[in-house]
Amino acid sequence: MKRLLITLLLTFPIVTQAVDLENGKKQARSCALCHGHYGQGTPGPASPRLAGTPAGYMVKQIEAYINEERINPRMVITSSLHSISEEEIDDIAAYYESVNLEKINPILNRIPAWPGNIELGSELYNGDCKSCHRKNGMGKSRKSIPALALQYPRYLFRQIKMFQWDKRVHDDDPEDETFDELKDQDIEALLAYISSLAPSNKK
Ligand code: HEC
Ligand code: HEC
Repeated sequence: MKRLLITLLLTFPIVTQAVDLENGKKQARSCALCHGHYGQGTPGPASPRLAGTPAGYMVKQIEAYINEERINPRMVITSSLHSISEEEIDDIAAYYESVNLEKINPILNRIPAWPGNIELGSELYNGDCKSCHRKNGMGKSRKSIPALALQYPRYLFRQIKMFQWDKRVHDDDPEDETFDELKDQDIEALLAYISSLAPSNKK
């Protein structure tokens, strides 16, 4: 039996497609227009940072935009996302995850500090968010949970409103109640605390 298994394994090797970072870098040129040359993004609500973001999380988001579960027609059209192959999307995501902004230029890695009630933010964050996004705000790359502390607060504000308006699903749970009770002031407080966790804002 063991022998048969080994023979089978040798005859049908498990094919694991390696990602091609060079190809990812090349393909990512079509994203630079909005996400910046290195995927660093800009502080506005419409240019999130991709550099250093978990690849699995990004692939899932790109699919959500293609399937119109997240709405962003300009991005889908400008980058012809409908016609890019899955392998290519994997390459782009792996490339962006590999970009180390701090190493390229620490200025690119900066996250603006958001004004607000940091004490309240800390209470809310450590009560309701840290179990998944971690105490340091860095998320869990292997579980595809994004690092909030490395993302622009203005963009995050908009995403939390999208969750509240049921225009985007948080944590794969359409019934998710994480944000139901939050007033805008609470969101501001959360972002003040989250942005204080960014390495560039640590004293
Ligand atoms: C025309 C501008 C534009 C182009 C070009 C563009 N994007 Fe985007 N992208 C956006 C905007 C705007 C958002 C935020 C939309 C929202 O609020 O959901 C976004 C969001 C994303 C997100 C989600 C980020 C997060 O934290 O959830 C990913 C991943 C992404 N883009 C990947 C890409 C990739 C890969 C390419 C190139 C193949 C690309 N984008 C090209 C504008 C663009
Ligand atoms: C049970 C786990 C869990 C908890 C608790 C949790 N999150 Fe999340 N969060 C996730 C996951 C998973 C995603 C990625 C969603 C996806 O795949 O589309 C996410 C995504 C987000 C995003 C979108 C980030 C982006 O780049 O677009 C924001 C903002 C966010 N969470 C904020 C919060 C805040 C604030 C709290 C606490 C009030 C919180 N989350 C609590 C699991 C969690």
